[in-house]
Amino acid sequence: MKVENLARLHEEKGDVIIEGKTKIVYELPKHPGKCLIKSKDSITAYNGEMKNTLEGKAEMSTATTFSMFAILEDAGIKTSLIQKVDKSSVLAHRCHMIPIEWVTRRVATGSFLRRNEGVEEGTRFYPPKLEIFYKDDANDDPQWSREMLEAKKMVCGGLLISPDEIDKMEKMTVAIFEIIEKCWQTKNVSLVDMKIEFGVCDATKEIILADVIDNDSWRIWPSGDKRLMMDKQVFRNLRGSQITASHMENLKKNFKWVAETAGEIADDVNSGVSKGRVVVLMGSASDKAHCEKIKNSCTKFGIQCILRVTSAHKGTGETMKILAKIEGEAVHIPTVIVAVAGRSNGLGPVSAGNSCIPVINCPPMSSQWATSDVWSSLRLPSGLGCSTILDPEMAGLAASQILAQHDVLIWCRLRVQLYLNWLKLKVADAELREAQDVVA
Ligand SMILES: Nc1ncnc2c1ncn2[C@@H]1O[C@H](COP(=O)(O)OP(=O)(O)OP(=O)(O)O)[C@@H](O)[C@H]1O
Ligand SMILES: [Mg+2]
Repeated sequence: MKVENLARLHEEKGDVIIEGKTKIVYELPKHPGKCLIKSKDSITAYNGEMKNTLEGKAEMSTATTFSMFAILEDAGIKTSLIQKVDKSSVLAHRCHMIPIEWVTRRVATGSFLRRNEGVEEGTRFYPPKLEIFYKDDANDDPQWSREMLEAKKMVCGGLLISPDEIDKMEKMTVAIFEIIEKCWQTKNVSLVDMKIEFGVCDATKEIILADVIDNDSWRIWPSGDKRLMMDKQVFRNLRGSQITASHMENLKKNFKWVAETAGEIADDVNSGVSKGRVVVLMGSASDKAHCEKIKNSCTKFGIQCILRVTSAHKGTGETMKILAKIEGEAVHIPTVIVAVAGRSNGLGPVSAGNSCIPVINCPPMSSQWATSDVWSSLRLPSGLGCSTILDPEMAGLAASQILAQHDVLIWCRLRVQLYLNWLKLKVADAELREAQDVVA
């Protein structure tokens, strides 16, 4: 998918597909389905009413978008970004842009307060509030209801923007917001609101996240304090005043901090190595195939998973030694134990009774004895807090959810998994509806 000789892309670029206030999109005739997006040093607000040059903005915006899209791609969200070409240009999938701004808000502020009289600034939305704005500069990007968007029956790149496609974009928008929110929170920065755009990918005809997520796209408040805002709102707030060099210098400092911090977050999240690990203790090597399923489930979320063989009944001393080592290492590495023991499960309860590490029993069930054997995992002495999950894939998932509480990489992947679970059902239902000619 990636292009080898990036330096040549600028020479190879064809016609301008579209030039906006902050970017120019070029055709790449030698790379069908792809385009070159070059950012500009311009900062605009109120539909171009305010317009200034912010030196270095193209680079800072490109860096911020690159970091955010890389995080989302890593988590499993499809985006238009393919590669960074240089500091201010990217290679992207050419899209037929859907002319809608999808705005998600965690905190009420700005235009929301003007449009929703009586709502106090700072009111929090659970789940995040979703709003739709039609991209129409001439009419100041009017707000649309979901019903209006359905009624327009837009067609983009040959794809009808049907209620099903709107559902997908709504779900994706909230997932994307929550992922970016979680990422900024690792730096104690609150994501207040954010706008994104989708496009229909020219090559696949799929709806993907496109355009940018940069410092113009959101409100971010360090420590949740509005006075510390670092985003483009600082520029908007200068409306009506004489903009000085010192204003621009301050803005540049903010944008630079945002680009650098976004880079740090992306490096951290995209290191590919989870901070935690799962240790699967199996009572017998014959349980290995069952344990591999647990491991596969963990690996899917980027979690290191170690398999050990030990029997709490037959090698009690050894089990305690292994447990002591796991507990010692867990001082630095958040750990979950999954105990796999058939017949009588001593391993899980003994591990839970002798350590503070979360323990999940995942006994392999024999067809003959399952209903009797499972009681050794379910009926425990008092004071033991281990849980039991019979399906090995789900045991891995449960361990991942525990570790995700302290690991944003795992959390982001789990969050996308929630969306994909929803999508799978949605697609299956749509196929059946179509086959039966049933309206949703
Ligand atoms: N991958 C892509 N393929 C095709 N067009 C794209 C892609 N990414 C962004 N664009 C479009 O490039 C155009 C230029 O972007 P820019 O953000 O500068 O426009 P703008 O002046 O802000 O106008 P707008 O209000 O439409 O965003 C936008 O219309 C945007 O939707
Ligand atoms: Mg734009």
